[in-house]
Formats: sequence, structure tokens, C-alpha cells
Amino acid sequence: MISPDRALQILRDEGCSEKVIVHCRAVSEYASEIAEKLAASGKTVDIELVIIGGLLHDLGRSRSHGIDHAVIGADIAMQLGLDPLIVNIIKKHIGAGITREEAKELGLPDDDYMPSTLEEKIVAHADNFISGNEKISMVQLRQKMKQKRFSDESTARIILLAEEIGVY
Ligand SMILES: [Fe+2]
Repeated sequence: MISPDRALQILRDEGCSEKVIVHCRAVSEYASEIAEKLAASGKTVDIELVIIGGLLHDLGRSRSHGIDHAVIGADIAMQLGLDPLIVNIIKKHIGAGITREEAKELGLPDDDYMPSTLEEKIVAHADNFISGNEKISMVQLRQKMKQKRFSDESTARIILLAEEIGVY
């Protein structure tokens, strides 16, 4: 696994803004806190992977702030020869995931963008609860999703993921 310093260097080299980097650090920190809690409760979780996946999840924001930033980030990570486990965390971090059918409607490359491993789920979930570099509450997250006109389906999926992870 690459080091956190190397991950930050990649974000800088690829041209992510300082704002994005600050957000990535906050998501990584919160995701690692969650991973440690789950590990303490007996779950098998790769904490290092969660830390690096959290740092790199928004790598694609160096090129796009659209919904495609996850696909773009995963492509960059792949080209850099990063671990496929990291590539998948990046690819599947939007909301609580995007199904193959939804991806089609959104014009994304044909693929399943639903987080399936615990590490993928933790990073997606941590990202939902970090706004900028601040942890937000469930009430604030609900308000944010309403303001941003998230579909009922995406909203429900995000809440379900939070309940599944159990730390928020
Ligand atoms: Fe993102």
C-alpha cells in the first residue's frame, strides 16, 4: 500500500485544488476513525486501504466536478498503476453508489458503481457525512440532500448505508 504522503503527492501532481485536498484529508480521517471503530467491534477491515482510498477518492476532481469525476479518478488511478482496491473505492464513492441502470441514464460508462466491500462502503459513507472539511449530522445531511434535489432513491440508499455502517 502506498503511504498517505504519496497519496497527497498524487493529488497535487494531478492538479487537485487545495480545497479538494483539504476535503480528501477530512474524509480520510473520518473514514479511518470509522474503520477503527468497526475493527474494534470485531469486523475485518483494512484500515490502511480506507485511509488511502479516502485520500484519493476525489482524485478525478482534478479534471471534473461532475458526477463523472469518480470514473475519471478511477481511470487516473489505474493509469498510475495503483492497487485495484483503491481504484474501486474511487469509482464507487458517489453517494451510496450508482447502479448499472442509473449509470446508463446518467451517461456514465456501462458499469456497476455500487460499493460492495466494507472499505468501499466506509469511504462512500464518510464522504456523505463530510461537507467541505466538516463532519455533518444526519439532520444536516438530510437538509443537504433535499437542497441538492437528490432523488428519493439516492437519499434512501445513503441513509441505509449510514445505518449499515452504524457510525455517523
Ligand atoms: Fe467525490
